[in-house]
Amino acid sequence: MDALEAIKTRRSVRKFSDRPVEPEKLQAVLEAAQLAPSWANMQCWRFVVVQDSAVKEKISELSYVEVFFAPKGYRTNPAQKALAEAPLVVVACAEPTHSGDLRGQQYYMADVGIAAENIMLAAHAQGLGSVFVGVFDEEGVGELLDIPPEIRIVGLFPIGYPLEEGKGAPKRKPLDEIVFYEKWKA
Ligand SMILES: Cc1cc2nc3c(=O)[nH]c(=O)nc-3n(C[C@H](O)[C@H](O)[C@H](O)COP(=O)(O)O)c2cc1C
Repeated sequence: MDALEAIKTRRSVRKFSDRPVEPEKLQAVLEAAQLAPSWANMQCWRFVVVQDSAVKEKISELSYVEVFFAPKGYRTNPAQKALAEAPLVVVACAEPTHSGDLRGQQYYMADVGIAAENIMLAAHAQGLGSVFVGVFDEEGVGELLDIPPEIRIVGLFPIGYPLEEGKGAPKRKPLDEIVFYEKWKA
């Protein structure tokens, strides 16, 4: 699968079989994250790979949306169960002081965001599925995994073999709504 094909066919996966992820596939996913571009190549990201079922279960409990935040239209985090069911969860963290902080923009979010897309595409290209989970209790997950308080936890990525069939083309705004040529158009 080439890069464009992977980008076009990737969808968020929230249902996983219990088939284990081969260590070499996990390794390829982690290397894809490692290869992402970052602010001044400072590589502020850190990743905690969780495979222990009891710990995944606790992470899932800490991602119950009503604890603190409810995105529009959801009563619970749609990825909550996936965090317990997937054979592994990659917890993507950042050391914010190892990235840019300019014009009030904290670029560690961009660094980890790019690594996150690499993780999801590398998973997909190998027949695995994943989803970016941004809704979770950061303090709770940090305490559970002994992550120091100065490290930010940006996202959780359950990874495994998808149980669900491909969901078809993703719904996206048309290009003419999001792309302007030469100047911004209101
Ligand atoms: C920063 C970010 C945070 C997200 N957080 C969650 C989440 O907490 N739970 C969830 O089920 N999906 C989450 N998603 C997945 C989005 O809902 C999903 O990417 C979007 O609906 C588009 O669908 P697609 O990935 O299948 O193309 C998140 C995605 C991003 C980029």
